Amino acid sequence: MPLAVQIRRNGGPEVMELAEVAVGDPGPGEIRIRHHACGLNFIDVYQRSGLYALPLPLTLGMEAAGVVEAVGEGVTHLKPGDRAAYASQPPGAYSEVRVMPAKCVVQLPDAISFEEGAAMMLKGLTVQYLLRKTQPQGGLQPGDHVLFLAAAGGVGLIACQWARAMGLELIATAGSDDKCRLALEHGAAHAINYRRENFVERVKEITGGRGVKVVYDSVGKDTWDGSLDCLQPFGLMVSYGNASGPVPPVALGTLAAKGSLYVTRPTLFSHISSREATQAMADDLFGMVTSGQVKIRVERRYALKDVAQAHIDLEARQTIGSSVLLP
Ligand SMILES: NC(=O)c1ccc[n+]([C@@H]2O[C@H](COP(=O)([O-])OP(=O)(O)OC[C@H]3O[C@@H](n4cnc5c(N)ncnc54)[C@H](OP(=O)(O)O)[C@@H]3O)[C@@H](O)[C@H]2O)c1
Repeated sequence: MPLAVQIRRNGGPEVMELAEVAVGDPGPGEIRIRHHACGLNFIDVYQRSGLYALPLPLTLGMEAAGVVEAVGEGVTHLKPGDRAAYASQPPGAYSEVRVMPAKCVVQLPDAISFEEGAAMMLKGLTVQYLLRKTQPQGGLQPGDHVLFLAAAGGVGLIACQWARAMGLELIATAGSDDKCRLALEHGAAHAINYRRENFVERVKEITGGRGVKVVYDSVGKDTWDGSLDCLQPFGLMVSYGNASGPVPPVALGTLAAKGSLYVTRPTLFSHISSREATQAMADDLFGMVTSGQVKIRVERRYALKDVAQAHIDLEARQTIGSSVLLP
């Protein structure tokens, strides 16, 4: 029987087990896909730990690339033999083969490898909606400053390159000097080692005291207050992750006191709820990658059985760019 990484209880990396699972035929609206590579994402950590509570037992994983083996009734955009990739609910991507809803699965262009596909769908579609759709009043124009935290990570390195292509002055934060260098090499205009430097003061210096139009913050608890202090009046706080823990409840009056700020807490899954929306976003992402404006950095490869080590490294801030699991 095919193998998959399952959890029967929430906890640390040790709760993940390689298990044999039965995989049947796809039903209406579903496909069966054999994975060549699976993406590693911080959301997998939240689902494993229970920060995002889901019914158990659970096969983890939200992103993968592979070959379609069979399609169910009503599926017209994919056929057996197609190369395909996805970022999708429900979890289940840490597996050799699975049956899943077809609506969030798209054909993978030949120019993009399975590893790149598995490394870029969840992270790249996230950057697509963050930079293209999650904008402040009046939008973003070339030359505008935005602050992007954890910019040397999987989402981060894609964002640095995409922002450069849009002409934005992306100010990166990252947890080491090496990571800062990497963010600069990938298109950040400035980089701040926020373990060593006060990032609020540095952002004020860089922007001549004005602050930025948007902060993209996936660190959460540890950076929330500082991120708000980096914004211009009417600026937009995009809180889209919790790598350091969830943001505690917020007193709304804080937003008035800091300059009539806007706040959003978005998730990719609201953006890819229909096949049409997913395809349009994927086309934009594929265009950025095949044109060479965004390169997907697959930095680490782990065998599926070594998934615990992959989670340990991700949570310890040891990884840069994207990592993949190989079934
Ligand atoms: N809402 C959405 O739609 C959406 C979609 C995709 C991803 N996300 C979020 O985006 C973030 C990035 O995801 P990713 O998969 O690409 O991960 P990643 O950025 O490769 O890894 C997380 C990074 O967060 C930073 N970090 C800061 N404080 C941390 C702490 N206490 N513990 C661990 N890491 C810490 C680390 O970078 P430094 O050492 O440089 O600080 C670490 O490398 C995650 O928070 C994820 O949940 C949200």
